[in-house]
Amino acid sequence: MNVYDSTRMADVLAPLGYRAVDSVDAADMVILNTCHIREKAAEKVYSELGRINIVRRRKEDAGDKMIIAVAGCVAQAEGAEILRRAPYVDMVFGPQAYHNLPQMVARLSRSTGAVLETDFPVESKFDHLPELTVESGAVDGCSAFLTVQEGCDKFCAFCVVPYTRGIEYSRPVGDVLHEARRLADLGVREITLLGQNVNNYHGEGPGGAAGGPWGLGGLIGEVAHITGIERIRYTTSYPADMDDDLIAAHRDVPQLMPFLHLPVQSGSDKVLKAMNRAHTAGDYGALVARLRAARPDIALSSDFIVGFPGETDDDFEQTLRLVERTGFVQAYSFKYSPRPGTPAAALGNQIDEPLKESRLARLQGLLAEQQKAFNDSCVGRTQSVLLDRRGRKPGQMVGRSPYMQPVHVTAPDELFGTVADLRIDAVSANSLSATLARADNKGAAA
Ligand code: 5AD
Ligand code: SF4
Repeated sequence: MNVYDSTRMADVLAPLGYRAVDSVDAADMVILNTCHIREKAAEKVYSELGRINIVRRRKEDAGDKMIIAVAGCVAQAEGAEILRRAPYVDMVFGPQAYHNLPQMVARLSRSTGAVLETDFPVESKFDHLPELTVESGAVDGCSAFLTVQEGCDKFCAFCVVPYTRGIEYSRPVGDVLHEARRLADLGVREITLLGQNVNNYHGEGPGGAAGGPWGLGGLIGEVAHITGIERIRYTTSYPADMDDDLIAAHRDVPQLMPFLHLPVQSGSDKVLKAMNRAHTAGDYGALVARLRAARPDIALSSDFIVGFPGETDDDFEQTLRLVERTGFVQAYSFKYSPRPGTPAAALGNQIDEPLKESRLARLQGLLAEQQKAFNDSCVGRTQSVLLDRRGRKPGQMVGRSPYMQPVHVTAPDELFGTVADLRIDAVSANSLSATLARADNKGAAA
């Protein structure tokens, strides 16, 4: 979502004459769009700021100005701390306030102190964002993100998101479809619908409040009708919010890709309860069975936290058992990181770092085995791949399989930006290599 937000910031700044550049040295303004989810991500902000400040000072010596801004969830959570540790920062604003950037820049030119989002009224940014542009990078190739939902009210005991991104909000269906059509007009073939809790989407329908809100399944059905949109994905989902319509969409909407990122976090019911997750390991298994009944080839990804306070060896073994039972094609796993202000950070039974590390290594070993087994099983098969990036050598392209695997191929230039049928030949570390399945490659399957 920070990627999406960054492109929207560029759109907001474009009328002022700003455009994105490739290096800090070339920039008149640097916006660090930050993440607060784990301590490591948040701490990185300060080292990065130090490096940017060196460039700023060098520019100042040469008579050039550079504005430094900190945006995103670290700005939201610890704005005062940022200004204390990095007093040269000019602007600090959270994820819901960047539509005010033009006014912030104007105020900065008149003021001596830093400009904060609290200087401006609280509004819904989506009511104030301009039309998407190609220049912002929002449409970089043929795959794009589209935020449909933001914020979270789940309050998982470990998570800062409800405090940084704020309460849940769903954009109206009409706004989402307008943006999706615009993306299609700009050449986008694949849209990933985004939200912290995207499957709890409940946006106002085109008929207004009287018609009741729409769920994500209905929204996906409508996006699928937009000419040019060949692939739809969504992320990230909360298991307890997977409803029948959304599961049916996996059966009924051919554009909806057979891949789902469905964070389970732990395989122990005791830990899940302590985490304030609304599902048990058994619920998760039953949900996976329903998804597989609807779309037998659906590939699953997940998030895991090891070393949550109070996690015993037995709890951790249950996580390994859940992974073995379920089978994931990829996953993200993390050591529990205490976050200030969250309930779990105040729990007494914190787990030692070395134990967290050994558990993480075991879990990641098992997940890597599963990923490799899945990738190996694809060799010799033909997959439809959206060729959305160019490789390093001429003619090389990289795309995504329906199951999110990166696939490398050498192909004629006219296939760039299209969905091509590729035969998977080999598996390397984290990607597949392939050749065109047919010389003409017409009529690639969805
Ligand atoms: N410590 C470790 N991992 C965390 N996540 C969220 N908060 C924490 C934390 N405090 C992980 C969860 C979530 C993913 C986005 O980040 O697994 O699904
Ligand atoms: Fe954080 Fe996701 Fe839980 Fe919301 S559902 S509190 S975003 S982990």
